[in-house]
Amino acid sequence: MQTNSRAKTYAVVGVGGRSKFYTHAILKEHAATTRLVAICDINPIALELAMEDLGNLGANITAWHADEFDTMIATHRPDVVLVTSKDCTHDHYICRAMELGCDVITEKPMTIDAARCRRIIDTRRRTGRRCRVAFNYRYMPRSTRIKELLMEGAIGAITSVVFTYNLGLIHGPSYFNRWHAEMEQSGGLLVHKATHHFDLVNFWIGENPRSVFACGKRNYFTPAMAARMGLRNCGPRCSGCLEATLCPFYSNIRAKNPAPPGQRLAGDFDPHYYNDLCVFREAVNIPDTMHALVGYESGAMVNYNLVTFGDKEYMNITFHGTLGRLEARGETPFRIYPHNGPMYEVPVANAVGGHGGADPVLLEDLFGAAPPFDPCRRAADERAGAMSILIGIAANHSIATGRQMLIDDLVPGLDTPDHTVMPRITDDIEIAPVSAWIARRRHEADERRRKARLTQADSFTAPATLA
Ligand SMILES: NC(=O)c1ccc[n+]([C@@H]2O[C@H](COP(=O)([O-])OP(=O)(O)OC[C@H]3O[C@@H](n4cnc5c(N)ncnc54)[C@H](O)[C@@H]3O)[C@@H](O)[C@H]2O)c1
Repeated sequence: MQTNSRAKTYAVVGVGGRSKFYTHAILKEHAATTRLVAICDINPIALELAMEDLGNLGANITAWHADEFDTMIATHRPDVVLVTSKDCTHDHYICRAMELGCDVITEKPMTIDAARCRRIIDTRRRTGRRCRVAFNYRYMPRSTRIKELLMEGAIGAITSVVFTYNLGLIHGPSYFNRWHAEMEQSGGLLVHKATHHFDLVNFWIGENPRSVFACGKRNYFTPAMAARMGLRNCGPRCSGCLEATLCPFYSNIRAKNPAPPGQRLAGDFDPHYYNDLCVFREAVNIPDTMHALVGYESGAMVNYNLVTFGDKEYMNITFHGTLGRLEARGETPFRIYPHNGPMYEVPVANAVGGHGGADPVLLEDLFGAAPPFDPCRRAADERAGAMSILIGIAANHSIATGRQMLIDDLVPGLDTPDHTVMPRITDDIEIAPVSAWIARRRHEADERRRKARLTQADSFTAPATLA
């Protein structure tokens, strides 16, 4: 049982899959500095299952229904509320927790639309409480190494980024099995998923986004596609579906969540909460194929692409800078192509721990007694949370209207996040090495041309010699 009375106290709202990442860390690795006091959820079965799971870890906590959130706060007076509920509910709990005197750590996305985002920003300013957004992707060794290389000026100031994220045929459809496939609940994948990616780009280049133009379509997870695949009797859920044996996206939740026979799963309780919904159902109203062009205040621009039915899962990024190019492809070493020298590779240490090695580092930063100084400034607050979701929200508006959107029109007057100092497009460039490189390349090209002329001349004279 947890007994450390001087530890920071935490209440968690939303006890689904993701909450365990935090609650287990509080009860295990970070038990010396943290204490879990209460959990809250709208689903009584989810609460029951969480109480059992956390009880097995020695937790001495109370469970509260979502309607009793204020009473829970008044009773336990937690220092921090951890928000791990469904995306469309984040704003309510973030604001209410701050109004009731608590700091907040929220899962991404901070929220799903501009009005909710504005409310969070205003409430934070008014209450003076702290709001952190747990952007775990920033803490992946690969992401952190990219930030270090860009900060060191390996390719100068960033002018252009091409970012491709491919969700494979297991991960991609899993979003369409659940609430994530409904815009009102998740903001669509340009918000729910791409918030990770847009935040990374904002973090890497240390700039604020200004404008967004996007295209997006439901191309694959459609009733018409099911018919084309010969699936003519799809049911609303995989459980009980007549096409279960044929459908490539059949989702067996019982196999995924081994519960004793007869025991209900949390997802069985609430009809809004099934996690084996048909991926081809009519109610899906989010795009499965998305492209966005984002313009930054510095003049940098980003070409972003997210596909949900790729052959495999990968993230490929190309950065163009004023001094060269950086390629980060899948799990391979980074390749840097400087303007003034040969390509070189930068290996990245193997990831240890969940989510590409990010999880233990993020947890230490959130819960550690004295997290080490972080020159990359990975800790994100509501300003960074807003900047990332607003790209996705603007992209959704752009898809709906066919027009370019300005971030400032959605939430005017946002404060700039805590960016590190980065090379600027307006910085002076040390021209000598670049011109030496250009001169060397010119010389090589001249040599190639000269040799080609000689070979041509040889072949021209050959017949005469033979004769
Ligand atoms: N950073 C990451 O890598 C990562 C990974 C997974 C999930 N997440 C985020 O974590 C959050 C939770 O995701 P999950 O996968 O655990 O989802 P989930 O569906 O498994 O769990 C969400 C929980 O919230 C509860 N809930 C729904 N409406 C509520 C309400 N009004 N009040 C209180 N509780 C409510 C549900 O009953 C459920 O128990 C989401 O915001 C998601 O984006 C982040």
